[in-house]
Amino acid sequence: MDAILRAEGVDLFYGTQKAVDSADFSLKRGEVTAIMGSSGSGKSSLLYCLAGVLAPTNGTVCFDGTRFSALTDDDLSTLRRERFGFVFQYGELLPELTVEENAALPLRLAGQRKAPAHAAAGEVLGRLGMTELLQRRTSQLSGGQSQRVAVARALVHRPDVVFADEPTGALDSVNASAVLDEFLGLARDQGTAVVIVTHDAAVAEHADSRYAMTDGILK
Ligand SMILES: Nc1ncnc2c1ncn2[C@@H]1O[C@H](COP(=O)(O)OP(=O)(O)O)[C@@H](O)[C@H]1O
Ligand SMILES: [Mg+2]
Repeated sequence: MDAILRAEGVDLFYGTQKAVDSADFSLKRGEVTAIMGSSGSGKSSLLYCLAGVLAPTNGTVCFDGTRFSALTDDDLSTLRRERFGFVFQYGELLPELTVEENAALPLRLAGQRKAPAHAAAGEVLGRLGMTELLQRRTSQLSGGQSQRVAVARALVHRPDVVFADEPTGALDSVNASAVLDEFLGLARDQGTAVVIVTHDAAVAEHADSRYAMTDGILK
């Protein structure tokens, strides 16, 4: 089957520093892949390129047969918002909004009314053990709770591809396994493709495929 996401020869430089070096990557619908590697090896940088957040210095990234570089900025933002879900490594929740409002955001941005959007958010949050905290502002959450809200928000609109940067880093093993189950369930039931950057060998073990990154080189 054709890849839903494919990268070829991707380099990313920050000034003169090369963070990603000629990366080739491909991902099918419903495939869960793990990217492992030590700190500073370029995992987050690669993920930003794959997700169309940063434009590679060289090389191409295609989603569903279309190169990101062929899209206007507006079309690329719409694509990211509607078809992708992100769990970023560093928290990016809106602190003044509640847990439920944060998780429902992708649906609200897509024009869905509040009641069904919050119902969908509540369902995902429930599976992640957050039912008691739906009305709490996210400024008042622990690191692990925030991480679960970020995961719920990345999944709530049933995207085609989820990009998750160390999504279980702040979680104990029970909650890490709930997050992993959400990703695996979505891949199995909805054909969602998932890219997980992780240090967690247990997470990588459950993935369908694995990459390792060393000094910007992906293998
Ligand atoms: N915005 C940036 N500006 C300059 N250098 C950066 C920036 N972000 C990351 N780097 C550098 O690029 C390399 C790869 O970083 P990163 O992709 O964050 O690695 P990882 O996620 O594997 O820890 C590191 O050497 C890091 O210091
Ligand atoms: Mg990183």
